[in-house]
Amino acid sequence: MDYVDKMRGSIKTPFARKSLKHVNSFKAMDVMRRASELESSGRKIIHLEVGEPDFPTVAPIVDAAKKALDEGLTQYTSPTGIVDLKYRLSELYSRRHGLSVSPERILITPGASGGLVLLANLLVEAGDEILITDPAYPCVRNFIRLMSATPRLIPIDAYRNFRPMVSQLEKANNSSTKGIWLASPNNPTGTVLDRETLTKLAVWARATNNHFLVDEIYHGLHYVSDLPSALEVESKSFVINSFSKYFGMTGWRLGWIVVPDEYVQQATRLAQNLYICASSISQYGALGAFTPDAEILLEHRRNEFNQRRVYFCNALSEIGLPPAASVDGAFYVYADISHFSDNSQKFCQLMLEKYGVAMTPGADFGEYKSDQYVRMSFTTSRDNLELGIERLQLALESLG
Ligand SMILES: Cc1ncc(COP(=O)(O)O)c(C=O)c1O
Repeated sequence: MDYVDKMRGSIKTPFARKSLKHVNSFKAMDVMRRASELESSGRKIIHLEVGEPDFPTVAPIVDAAKKALDEGLTQYTSPTGIVDLKYRLSELYSRRHGLSVSPERILITPGASGGLVLLANLLVEAGDEILITDPAYPCVRNFIRLMSATPRLIPIDAYRNFRPMVSQLEKANNSSTKGIWLASPNNPTGTVLDRETLTKLAVWARATNNHFLVDEIYHGLHYVSDLPSALEVESKSFVINSFSKYFGMTGWRLGWIVVPDEYVQQATRLAQNLYICASSISQYGALGAFTPDAEILLEHRRNEFNQRRVYFCNALSEIGLPPAASVDGAFYVYADISHFSDNSQKFCQLMLEKYGVAMTPGADFGEYKSDQYVRMSFTTSRDNLELGIERLQLALESLG
């Protein structure tokens, strides 16, 4: 034993924070790892567990990034992002939502993840309670816990299209409650908060002095004619968005947030400290997303997702595994498997090991009825979806 080992042995302090025990890895990742092991043994696996578009980034974005590299635009940018990109996003709010959002209120972040971490640091204090839905995107709970605060889970049900009700918020609200964090469209349910619901929730948040935060990362990938931004119903909302999903730039790590005017300065200080700035090349690349060529390609992809959605939801219904609620956005189907199993993790394991279909158990997204649900993504080709349906049909016949 050398000196360092001896010293280590005598130090009692653990290296990692105890509270990290709550931060679990995604079950979707475990599924992916096992799926790739099976693939390397020669099996064909249908991937319905993946939460990212299967298309490569469109050429106009790639070209804009290449040009920026050639021009040596590789230094840090301003902590809130390059001005041109913030203007393009401001125009996007005007085009999509008829809103006037000043570019100064927009901060470019390293993915929606970077935006969520920044907003957690901006808004959440130790001891606070934040209302979030169950199920929801898993990291949100963890970001709140990392602030030594408590995520207060609001169960949402399929028969209400996975929308929380004001009466539930009312019941959960107490003197420690500081905000409500939502997502529309939601991961894993693919459901959206319609204008009436969003307005009611925002009005409640304002009346009870809670901040109102909505993750809009799947905006653009929606299949209903009216998908309001939280900023339309509450000008003081905190909004998160990203280039990952609609713009197909998951690996570029680029997102943005919109904050009320009076928070810009503090949010900027946090951005400087947390990550200095988002990737410069990714930001210059993202400018290519706002060209007519890119816009055509991105809309084409949205159509492709829509066609897959229609096919997949119908086919699942035909084999007895219908979506639990109408899939109006994102690329996820949340389905109730309780006719076939009382344990969605075991169900997913069986689907993968025996039938070669990878999907994510509900336990990734919360606690409420999580054993009853699985999430399936239509982020794979139509041919693969058809093969997936064939295999699932076989599996369900043997279980039913
Ligand atoms: C609802 C939601 N928010 C945030 C994220 C993180 O996205 P990003 O890649 O922009 O960090 C995801 C990723 O799947 C998500 O589903």
